[in-house]
Amino acid sequence: MKKDLISIKDLTPKEIEELFNLTDRLKEDKNKFSRVLAGKTLALIFQKPSNRTRVSFEVGMYQLGGNSIYLSPAEINLGVRESVRDVAKTLSRYVDAIVIRTFEHKNVLQLAEHSDKPVINGLSDFSHPCQGLADVYTVRGKLRNIKSKTLAFIGDGNNVCNSLIFACAKTGLNMNIAAPTGYEPDKAVLEEARVIAQEQNSSIKFFHNPAEAVKGVDVVYTDVWASMGQEEEAQQRKKIFREFQVNSALMSGAKRGALIMHCLPAHRGDEITDEVIDSPHSVVFDQAENRMHVQKAILITLLGRHK
Ligand code: CP
Ligand code: NVA
Repeated sequence: MKKDLISIKDLTPKEIEELFNLTDRLKEDKNKFSRVLAGKTLALIFQKPSNRTRVSFEVGMYQLGGNSIYLSPAEINLGVRESVRDVAKTLSRYVDAIVIRTFEHKNVLQLAEHSDKPVINGLSDFSHPCQGLADVYTVRGKLRNIKSKTLAFIGDGNNVCNSLIFACAKTGLNMNIAAPTGYEPDKAVLEEARVIAQEQNSSIKFFHNPAEAVKGVDVVYTDVWASMGQEEEAQQRKKIFREFQVNSALMSGAKRGALIMHCLPAHRGDEITDEVIDSPHSVVFDQAENRMHVQKAILITLLGRHK
């Protein structure tokens, strides 16, 4: 693996398989490798709120024998109180790895460029790699052989969608995406991922009609219509995305018993109905749990302590 985890694009299919195999071992026994990161510290720079990412990294680090320091927006005030470069150079002298959750993706890139220590992207406006990896790991746990299976992502072609595209492409899980005009996923991501998917004998297809995208699929995934930082657009987006709600009518077109996924937090009644997210086929809390197991594998791998 490279020094940092910035995008799933940077991981080879073999590296992802190795991460998932290590995750299996960590998930089996939470005390496995319980001293492996003893004496190590993880800094968490967060410019946006978080439940899952912050807690799963902090608990994960603790379970591996290490320590973590949460740095709220007010403390670091990235780029305002101090430049990203100076933050990177300073933190590298204290800590062993840095997680960053920020708005502009270039902050993640700059931090990684100037930090001597591994940087993990904990969500930017462009991508959310830890989520994408935990999601495909979840599908693999539920459906076993993910090749020849299809995941449909319905909604905003956002950070989560971009990361899922790479995660699916690299692991050979077929992906259908349905988004309104103007809210498609990143064009370059789609183009690059399609080449990778071809090598894995899988496909990434785009639709404007959600019913077509979910036809016969094994997994239906959605995310909020207005992401963090887009709150002012929320009302307008509710109208634009209305036809993209994941509800029982839409689910009736998917394979019977199809998995229902959401990265959370969910805006119930908007992108997904209570009936669907609370159905027996929903795996949203397995996804949330798997964030921690996968991230523990990421931390061990990046800090090179699993041999
Ligand atoms: N899915 C996810 O990243 O959740 P948080 O925003 O709560 O961290
Ligand atoms: N797309 C959402 C994901 C939250 C985990 C956001 O960026 O707010």
